Amino acid sequence: MRVLRPTDEAIREASAALRTGLLVALPTETVYGLGADARNDAALKRLYEAKGRPTQHPVIVHLANADQIDEWAVDVPEAARRLAAQLWPGPLTMILRKAGFVSLSVTGGQDTVGLRIPSHPVARKLLLEFGGGVAAPSANKFGRISPTTADDVAHDFEEEVEIVLDGGTCEVGIESTIVDLTGDQLRILRPGMILPEQIEAIAGKVQRAPAPGSTTRAPGMLKSHYAPRTPTELVTSEKFSARLRELQSSGRKVCALTFQAQVGECAGLVVASVDPRRYAHELYGSLRKLDRLGADVILVESVPEDDAWSGVADRLKRAAADCSSRG
Ligand code: TXA
Ligand code: MG
Repeated sequence: MRVLRPTDEAIREASAALRTGLLVALPTETVYGLGADARNDAALKRLYEAKGRPTQHPVIVHLANADQIDEWAVDVPEAARRLAAQLWPGPLTMILRKAGFVSLSVTGGQDTVGLRIPSHPVARKLLLEFGGGVAAPSANKFGRISPTTADDVAHDFEEEVEIVLDGGTCEVGIESTIVDLTGDQLRILRPGMILPEQIEAIAGKVQRAPAPGSTTRAPGMLKSHYAPRTPTELVTSEKFSARLRELQSSGRKVCALTFQAQVGECAGLVVASVDPRRYAHELYGSLRKLDRLGADVILVESVPEDDAWSGVADRLKRAAADCSSRG
């Protein structure tokens, strides 16, 4: 693995590596992606193996230009074109009916494909240079915290990744909003920092959650995902201090992610921003930092229950899923 500054030379090398079926980690505005040529099944196999991801889970195809939609998707509804025109490049993934050639290893065996045009200048340069679709899940091992720096990527992978393009810290910080445009109604499959009301203003009514009992396979939708190794517990603001003291008095080493600066003595403290965009930007870095402290518990204060926080709330719920299921 080589971590490279994203010079023109490095972009050309990365594009050439993709062309020969190798894996390249690229910065996007959301999180770092682990990229492979989306038309090369051997490269896709390498991608799934490197991530340790079950092959029935689909990956997002990253494109350089909106006119590539019609290459990768069919029956593209008008709503998709409007969303593309207004929100791309940006942190929005659209689920559409796949074109015939699109490999089932991209779509996890489904007849739909996830498409996104990222806005990060390095991702854009690489995609323009490469010219084709780049399949890129977040560049972390399956089920772990997504990377927001090149260091995070280097921490999770070794020889299996050829090049990491270092584009600094990701601006948005959590994964793209995923909207499904294949049903009767638009549906958010994964909330992110493109908010439901932004989508509604452009494309009409949108359901805020996957259909009940939906069988759509999307790993970000598994209950436990984006998880630190340290058991993580989510509690309301009212119960936060009491729960912290309770854990500590039972001898547990506790660190905390909270809005309150005055929580008392603990093994590690991150005081979170009250601005959801800033909170999202810092979230994964904060969880990684707390995870390194070797505490028994990461105690996380829950966030407000409105749309602006829905992406953050979703990631916190999943980070804490193992603990809350234990009660
Ligand atoms: O912000 C992002 O979306 C980042 C960056 C790298 O672009 N990528 C990302 O990829 O988060 P990944 O694989 O970690 O998550 C992609 C999500 C998964 O939940 C996947 O199942 C879902 O997109 N997805 C992809 N294609 C799909 C499809 N055809 N139907 C339903 N879900 C799909
Ligand atoms: Mg992921």
